[in-house]
Amino acid sequence: MKILVINGPNLNLLGTREPEIYGSATLSSIEKEILEYTESFKGVEVEFFQSNHEGEIVDKIQSAKGLYDGIIINPAAYTHTSVAIADAIKAVNLPAVEIHLSNINSREDFRKKSITAPSCIGQISGFGKNGYLAGLFCLIKHLEN
Ligand code: DQA
Repeated sequence: MKILVINGPNLNLLGTREPEIYGSATLSSIEKEILEYTESFKGVEVEFFQSNHEGEIVDKIQSAKGLYDGIIINPAAYTHTSVAIADAIKAVNLPAVEIHLSNINSREDFRKKSITAPSCIGQISGFGKNGYLAGLFCLIKHLEN
C-alpha cells in the first residue's frame, strides 16, 4: 500500500511560521515522524510532496493515479479557495484525508469553509502534527476494508 502525503503553501516554513498556531516542529521533522509511524504498519509506504503552487499540487494529484492507493493532504490556504484541487482529488478517485494542524473551525470565518474537504473521505483539524498520524491510521484502515 502506497500513500502520498501532500503539503500546500507555506507549510515549508513550519517551525518558524506562527508557531503559536502551527507548532514548532519543522515539516521535515513531521515527515520523519510520519515515516517512523508508518513502520508500525506492515507493507505501507509513504512519499512526501510539498509545493507553494496550486498547479503543481494539481499535477501531483493527477500523477498519483495508479502509483498510490491514497492521499493525505494539507492544502493549507488552498483549502479555502481551490476548486482545482478539489476537482483533481475527485478526478483521480483516490481516497484522500484532509489534515489541518490548527482547528480551522475556531479561527477566522474565511478558514471555516473548506472547498477541498467534500472531495475527501474525511478531515482532521486541530490536533497539530498528530493529525497526520491520525489521518494515516484512518486512511490505512479505510484501504484495508
Ligand atoms: C492550515 C490552515 C489554513 O487555513 C492555513 O492557510 C494554513 C495551514 C492548517 O494546517 O492549520 O496554511 O491548513
